[in-house]
Amino acid sequence: MVLQAPGGGHSVSLLQRFALVSLVVFAALGVGLNYRFSQSIEETAIDGAVQTAQDTLQARLIAQVPRTQLKWAMVDADKRRAFERALATGVLSHRTVRVKVWDEWGRVIYSSDKHIIGKRFPLKDELQEAIGGKAAAEVSSLTSAENRGDRTLGSKLLEVYLPIRYPHDPHVYGVFEIYERYAPVARQIAETERMVTINLSAGLLVLYLLLFGIVRSGSRTIARQQKALVRYTDELEGSYNQTIASLAAAVDIRDTSTEEHSVRVTELSVALATWLGWDEEAIRAVQRGALLHDVGKIGISDSILLKPGPLSDEEWGEMCKHPVIGYTMLRAISFLDPSLAIVRHHHERWDGTGYPDGLRGEEIPESARLFAVVDAYDAITADRPYRRGSPHALAMEIILRDAGSHFDPRMAMAFAEMMQERLALPRRPHLVAV
Ligand SMILES: [Fe+2]
Repeated sequence: MVLQAPGGGHSVSLLQRFALVSLVVFAALGVGLNYRFSQSIEETAIDGAVQTAQDTLQARLIAQVPRTQLKWAMVDADKRRAFERALATGVLSHRTVRVKVWDEWGRVIYSSDKHIIGKRFPLKDELQEAIGGKAAAEVSSLTSAENRGDRTLGSKLLEVYLPIRYPHDPHVYGVFEIYERYAPVARQIAETERMVTINLSAGLLVLYLLLFGIVRSGSRTIARQQKALVRYTDELEGSYNQTIASLAAAVDIRDTSTEEHSVRVTELSVALATWLGWDEEAIRAVQRGALLHDVGKIGISDSILLKPGPLSDEEWGEMCKHPVIGYTMLRAISFLDPSLAIVRHHHERWDGTGYPDGLRGEEIPESARLFAVVDAYDAITADRPYRRGSPHALAMEIILRDAGSHFDPRMAMAFAEMMQERLALPRRPHLVAV
């Protein structure tokens, strides 16, 4: 299926448009999901580091350093050395680079920077949180005052704040602030992010290709069905037209005096409607209406229809019923609705003296006014079994003479002009016979 862009020229298929739009959507989805996953991976990695530090602290240090030793580590050299030994063997690893210990009032009990031991500093959020009993962490660049002595440790550290609790005692006795190198955590995060990005991209690509395949297959099916529908519609329309032509032929065959009259008036009516610039739908209505205009004659008895001489008043009254009989025959066929005006009103006259409804002027449907001129022209010029047809010029004289009484003047004039063009004759008033 192809969509024509406004202005013509450039065209984009529905499938191409889908491929482009969905590619953009999938790319945006990939970027968004990747961002969310990256955040989640970083949070998980930091939480993991906090949990590991907490496990290590509980298992190796708290068990070895009683409460009293912790309390006196600040002022007693022996107790501090014992505390440092316990730290060195129990907590400091290749990742853990420093430990700072705070008491529950925000005072430094222990630090590698001895100048700050015993000093109190403003409580940062994470420290406050840990004093409240909850482990916390942040990635730090060591800019705060109490870290002045530790700035040689590297540009980025993971600061983990762990509440100090003893078994079976809910009280928080202080906070361990453990500095870990952030680089190993960052490497782990980067590696996990790389794997997630690869898997996510591959997954989205597979999904996109699957979706594209489904849409392409659906698009081809729709195109195939559309072609079949067009073919079916053409066949159906062909059947309609054949049916209409058969009906018209039946009338022409029965009324031998008007042999092929229906075909000739159809050709001329379509030519006039086209000359007037009517649209395709209106022209089709004229074509079908012209072919079927006298179909009601099927309902007129042979004794009247085929009578060689003039008709009596009563016979004429019967004959005048054929437009209504035709209309009644066809009105149940919905696709002929636009053509019924010609069938019913082709014997109306501009001055209101026609039949069956005595319509006047523009009350008469435009297609019936158009057809009335053509019908009269053919009736005048066609050969009959009992007489030869009159010349074109005489027919045109009669039509133009009766414009405004029998015929719509505009239609009569249009017909005359069209016939002049068709027959390449000089313009009025010097009409020449063919
Ligand atoms: Fe008729």
